[in-house]
This record gives sequence, structure tokens and C-alpha cells, in this order.
Amino acid sequence: MAFNLSQYKIETQQFTSRIGKIRRGFGGSGLEYFLFKVPRVIWLLFYRPRMRNDYDFATPLLPVPSHLRQCSVERCRVFADRDEMLKSLSKRKVWAEVGTYEGAFARKILDICEPTRLDLIDLRFDRVRLRGYVHESEAVSFYIGDSEQSLLKQPDNKYDYIYIDASHDLIDVARDTEAAKLKLRLDGMLFFNDYIYFSYLELRTYGVVPVVNSLIASGEWEVACFAFHNKMYCDIGLRRVTSDCRTDLGCTTFPSRHRPVSAAAAPRRFIATDQCRYSHLEQIG
Ligand SMILES: C[S@@+](CC[C@H](N)C(=O)[O-])C[C@H]1O[C@@H](n2cnc3c(N)ncnc32)[C@H](O)[C@@H]1O
Repeated sequence: MAFNLSQYKIETQQFTSRIGKIRRGFGGSGLEYFLFKVPRVIWLLFYRPRMRNDYDFATPLLPVPSHLRQCSVERCRVFADRDEMLKSLSKRKVWAEVGTYEGAFARKILDICEPTRLDLIDLRFDRVRLRGYVHESEAVSFYIGDSEQSLLKQPDNKYDYIYIDASHDLIDVARDTEAAKLKLRLDGMLFFNDYIYFSYLELRTYGVVPVVNSLIASGEWEVACFAFHNKMYCDIGLRRVTSDCRTDLGCTTFPSRHRPVSAAAAPRRFIATDQCRYSHLEQIG
């Protein structure tokens, strides 16, 4: 059905009025709107200039590789949502979900993908037990503790699919990713939830985009799938590149200010397995 602007305006009159608070989709009171406006003005003054889409802009909020090559995304399949993405994956594989919260998505992995093994990793499992979506069994294990450490305890090349969705701080996403790479089979896939640069729900940056784009910019990983989310907290899946689309130095795509650092100069919590790829993390400390 064709999009009809007049009809849309009639049906969404309450959001298309000229009044500011309603126009911006803000359903709260006048006072709430005023309180919302204060940080908004501060944001516009101080932070928006730093988020400009400028390849060589020196001080972005988080450094992200400035440029991805077309061949890194050419074979990407796009899905309406992450459930549809699960349906496209092979069944009876070995899975890990890093950060499981209440276990709702783990339930979907079990129902849709029928894994032979599903390892769930989280700091706590009381919420999972309370909800009862998933239970420990022969196929399902609960690993309580820090995500990176829990992953590192697993044998190398164990998993076909790893879904990363624990802490979204840049340093934590990077640590989880480095650990996951060791535990992933060569033909496996890494999935990342919340592929969004700035979470407008929490008013904070997420580390997912910088880490994922760094992997892609390195030329060693390509985008295998992308799943939409209704609020754009999307999913992205990466697999290793087997043939072309490689670069010698993926880090050359970073803004010039973020030069590679030596392992000694890297922050202590940062796994310096690939100084080049995550060199920009020196800023985070
Ligand atoms: C966004 S929720 C996961 C949601 C779940 N994947 C889903 O799609 O329904 C993030 C989870 O990661 C866990 N988490 C946060 N930091 C963690 C860490 N360092 N190690 C392990 N789990 C962590 C939190 O306890 C929380 O349950």
C-alpha cells in the first residue's frame, strides 16, 4: 500500500501538531517537557558538534572507523527482526549467549535453532530462574560470572554461534569480543545485539558500533546479517572473511588522532592481542 501523507497526518494528528512537546513525540506534562529540554539544550550545545558525521573529525564521543568498504557488507542478509534472523541459521549448532538477562532470547534460540548446546553467561541467574524461560539441562548450562572470564574458561573453537549482549561499555564489548573470537570456530558467527552508537533510552554511548566496525574495517570480518529492531537497537552478525576484502592495516581507517599504541601503553584491562585493531581504546583507560 502506498504511503499517503494526508491520511498519515489525520491518523497521527496528536503527533503532527505544531506544539513542540507533542511534535517531538513527548507525551509527558509541560513540566516534564521543560525538564527534558534542559539536558537537550546542553546536549545540542556541547555534544552534538562532536557527533558530526565527519570522517576526520578529531574528537568524536567514541572513535569509530571512519569508513567501511562495500565488499565487507555486500553479502549481508537483512532481516525484519532478530527472530527472523534466528530462523535463517543452521539448527543443531553450539551456541553461547553472553548476557542473558531473564532468558527470553535464550528461549527463542532453543525453540528456533534447536542447539545441541547453549551456554548462558551472566553475572546473575536469579532473574532467569524466576522467569523460568530456560532451565539448566544436558544441553543448557548457566555460567555465572564476568562474561570475558567465563568465555575464556571454555575450550577454543567450541562455538558455532556467539551472541554478545552483556555490558555495553566499549572496553567490555572489546574484551568480550576478543575472548569470543578465540572460542569461535573458524566458520562460526559472532552476533552483537544493540548495534547502536548512542542509546537514547539511557543517554549514553554504547561500545558495540566502534568494536563491530573496527572488526569489519580490519578486513578480517564481514557482515553476514543485520536484523532491524523497532527502536533501532538492531542486531548485526559477522563472519570471518575467507578470501578477498582484506587490508594489511585496518587501523589506517581510524581518525588520525587515534594512532596505534604499544601493548605496554594500552590500558591494563585491555587485551592487547591486536594492538592495531583496538588501538583507539587507549582513550578509555
Ligand atoms: C541487555 S541484557 C541481555 C539481554 C538478553 N541477551 C536478551 O536479548 O534478552 C545484559 C545482561 O548482561 C549482563 N551483564 C552485564 N555485564 C556483564 C558482565 N561483565 N559479565 C556477564 N554478564 C554481564 C547483565 O546482568 C544483563 O543480564
